[in-house]
Amino acid sequence: MNIDYARLVEDDRVHGGLYTDATVFADEMARIFLAGWVFVGHESEIPEAGDWVTRRLGLEPVIMVRDEGGEVRVLANRCAHRGTQLCWQAAGGGRKSFQCSYHGWVYSLAGALKSLPGKSGFEGPMARLDLDRPGAVESYRGFVFTNQTGEAGPLDAHLGAGGKLLIDRACDMSPEGRLAIRGGWIGQRIESNWKMWPESDNDGYHLAVTHASLRSAVPGTQYEAALFSPELDNKSVARDHGLGHVELDLRPGYDRELAWLGTGREKVASYVAALQQGHGTAAADRILWDGPPHALIFPNLFLGEMNLAIIQPLAPARTTHYHTPLLLDGVEPALNERILRQSVAAMGPASFLLPDDAVVAERMQNGFAAGRQDGHGWVDLARGRARERDDEQGRVGHVSDETTNRGFWRHYRQVMEARA
Ligand code: FES
Ligand SMILES: [Fe+2]
Repeated sequence: MNIDYARLVEDDRVHGGLYTDATVFADEMARIFLAGWVFVGHESEIPEAGDWVTRRLGLEPVIMVRDEGGEVRVLANRCAHRGTQLCWQAAGGGRKSFQCSYHGWVYSLAGALKSLPGKSGFEGPMARLDLDRPGAVESYRGFVFTNQTGEAGPLDAHLGAGGKLLIDRACDMSPEGRLAIRGGWIGQRIESNWKMWPESDNDGYHLAVTHASLRSAVPGTQYEAALFSPELDNKSVARDHGLGHVELDLRPGYDRELAWLGTGREKVASYVAALQQGHGTAAADRILWDGPPHALIFPNLFLGEMNLAIIQPLAPARTTHYHTPLLLDGVEPALNERILRQSVAAMGPASFLLPDDAVVAERMQNGFAAGRQDGHGWVDLARGRARERDDEQGRVGHVSDETTNRGFWRHYRQVMEARA
């Protein structure tokens, strides 16, 4: 049965069935995660030839590997013979090839079938037995994206000016403009639909309630002025950059430099000096105030300030939220150590932010389970619609307004209809 997404996604409300329905989930895997661009990994995760990580494109298991020529390849993690998974761990290195554990077929790091036992039993060209590869793989400043069908157009058009600006701002936290994603990933399995994470990670309205324990246990975090302050005192904004890329822009809400790092210049003098050397004094001053972005790159990459997160759908009511610290090239180890500790404290399994959000997401999922299609079960996303305005970066609202959520869903509806 074809689902009418225009009927289920209105400008300021969406139907709860979109979070629970198995057909919707299958459509999303096909139209968003296979027919569109999705984030797969960062080049710095696989610095040497033979380094690899395993990921999924939607539900499709893949390997991201650096081949002997230094090129980043994305290969199906599925033997071309009978489908056995080739790599079953999260990451590794030092490979010259991938050998299947069932009948022993061997593939090059570029995915070509190199050798196989008992060759005389096969006839015809063997090229069709290479590993499957996505139709398109492109990267922007080290962020590797893939489009399985190869029909989504250039990555540049998917990111748009807004998506590139957000990634640029994350990279520019490094004096050398380069991130070092090597702090290890933590994955948290949550019994919720994946779309609650683009929503929740960019919802500026829930902080004071859902995260009240953070505020009382750790007063004076970066969120004190930028997210916890009374509504009409708070200058932070919610942004819809278009193309599904949305942001809680905390920069105007910060009340001091380096609020995002919870420190001052004197404590990180070598970082300040390196930033000044790498970017110039004026740009360094701006970066020290602005800090990293807090934004979603549609559909699965969350630039979570000094964290990177991947939203991995598994089933209508099951998602893994992976995160890793946004470590920086060109800084002293002590700063990266601090970023790692902050990441664990913010998003780790015993942290202050993500576990609270996970509990709420599971409660939402339970709420939607009771939704019906006949006029009940809607989700209201109208907050702040009347006070939105446009500026040179797109649509902008108060940080507590649902401008981000509406932006996500507007693009979702467009993609789900266009790729039907
Ligand atoms: S399934 Fe991989 S070699 Fe047979
Ligand atoms: Fe939250």
